[in-house]
Amino acid sequence: MLSLGNTYSEADITDFYNRVVKGLEGEAFELVCELKYDGTSISLTYIDGVLERAVTRGDGKKGDDVTNNVRTIRCIPLKLQGDYPAEFEMRGEILMPWKVFEQLNKEREEQEEPLFANPRNAASGTLKMQNPAVVAKRRLDSYLYYMLGEDLPFESHYECLEAAKGYGFKISDAIRKCRTLKEVFDFINYWDTERKNLPVATDGIVIKVNSFDQQQRLGYTAKSPRWAIAYKFQAERALTRLKEVTYQVGRTGVVTPVANLDPVQLSGTVVKRATLHNADIIESLDLHIDDMVYVEKGGEIIPKITAVDKNQRSLFAQKVNFIEVCPECGTPLERVEGEAAHYCPNEDGCPPQIMGKIEHFTGRKAMNIDGLGPEIIDLLYSHKLIGSIADLYTLKLQDIAMLSGLGEKSGRKIVQGIRDSVNVPFERVLFAIGIRYVGETVAKKLANTLLNIDTIATASIEELTAIDEIGESIAGSVYHYFREPKHMELIQKLKEAGLKMEVDLSKKENSSDILGGKVFVVSGVFENFSRDGIKETIERNGGKISSSISSKTDYVVAGENMGPAKKEKAEALGVKIIDEQTFINLINN
Ligand code: IVH
Repeated sequence: MLSLGNTYSEADITDFYNRVVKGLEGEAFELVCELKYDGTSISLTYIDGVLERAVTRGDGKKGDDVTNNVRTIRCIPLKLQGDYPAEFEMRGEILMPWKVFEQLNKEREEQEEPLFANPRNAASGTLKMQNPAVVAKRRLDSYLYYMLGEDLPFESHYECLEAAKGYGFKISDAIRKCRTLKEVFDFINYWDTERKNLPVATDGIVIKVNSFDQQQRLGYTAKSPRWAIAYKFQAERALTRLKEVTYQVGRTGVVTPVANLDPVQLSGTVVKRATLHNADIIESLDLHIDDMVYVEKGGEIIPKITAVDKNQRSLFAQKVNFIEVCPECGTPLERVEGEAAHYCPNEDGCPPQIMGKIEHFTGRKAMNIDGLGPEIIDLLYSHKLIGSIADLYTLKLQDIAMLSGLGEKSGRKIVQGIRDSVNVPFERVLFAIGIRYVGETVAKKLANTLLNIDTIATASIEELTAIDEIGESIAGSVYHYFREPKHMELIQKLKEAGLKMEVDLSKKENSSDILGGKVFVVSGVFENFSRDGIKETIERNGGKISSSISSKTDYVVAGENMGPAKKEKAEALGVKIIDEQTFINLINN
């Protein structure tokens, strides 16, 4: 797979245009402008209309066979329709939509797994996974933009893409045939802003000579075709000074370096800080204090430093060396073999780790203790009124009232919140105690399968991995957590405080299997349920929830204002659409 020459200015495009004019000796030609999708490239081979093989770009010569994973991507046809050539290759881009990317990173944050920097890395990481079932859940998307084969019955690229659309491939609608440079620039200007509304990432425009005959005459350089060029959108970036590097310690002890910058305006916001991720990134930038650095937002969520202007570096500038001891508690940092992150191992003595664990415990999705936010936790901790989550349950109103600025009313609210938290269901208690890799979903799975803390605490690795969706690393983390005496002591204290340590089976009786694994998509607003409420009811009665309509969907429950696109899709796929009352009747029967 070849790559394209990159350009960054209108002048470069004019040069390309003039080279084509010259190469074709003045003959008229058409250009096709397309979006440059920012994903990971793929080559799909179809034989007799059947997807035979899917291979990644790799180093351009040799890639990875990812056929089984690609087969799970819904918009990639397994079987073609129409009058397709007997054998050909289709190239394109595999993408992770922004929404899926953001959701995935949210889940990874909850599970304390490293975040993907952008949808491109997420898509390429997903394609390399060993388990196609997990790939299927990641809802990857694709656009195809190039067909190759011997004796293809087409004369131009545009014609080819039109035909490919007919065979069932997903071809972008953002394609335009142009005859003049002005038309090319208009396309670029339009999409430079409009692309922000697309569901997937794009990073430029690709311009191709349309006619295959002309493409052939223009030929190739050693690296790329002479008949095509990529124009990259200017990533929004700013130049500013690095004041210092500080380090943040998370609740699990991971140490993250942060660049503190002279404030600078970037795509509508003022940037003062940028993440440096880990020691390797600092090293590869060869960062020095007072360096003038380029900050970019690009496809990433958090701004990052992409380059250093070394010409502006003073002779005496001091190199940034990653710290060796924890900035909060002074403990020597550790680095796990094969991982990029440094950890502070002082779990029980390092303030941000202790406070971070308490904040996680009291959080909305965990014990949901009202009034007990980070500032109050900080106060309670610095006054030595709490040192671990178990201490919350021995806090007295007078202890809290003692704190400066905190009135009796707020104190009472906190005490009441803590008292009420004993009613929080077991699955959330399990999430709240903060075992690494045990996010909300995993906690639910563990609780509903093993039913109480003692069975979970004594389960072997084999018993844990036997549970659906629980892999080696989660099982290992759970197993080791409960083998630490200090953790068992904590559980004992929480038990004594009255926290729920088992699934409430009487609540379970409220449930049924009446929906027998049927897959539901809910859409719109309901009269008798909140959105989460209807989903919970479906799950409690044995149904499954899916976020998008596919041929696997059994029912769409339609409330007020269901989107027309969903309706159309359900109808096209022959999925049953039912209203709220029909749904209620369904469960009551
Ligand atoms: S055409 C021989 N069209 O950008 C030309 N590429 O260096 C084949 N890309 O590796 C590429 N959108 O992964 C083409 N509409 C598009 C594209 C596109 C994204 C990627 C592709 C390629 C890189 C160019």
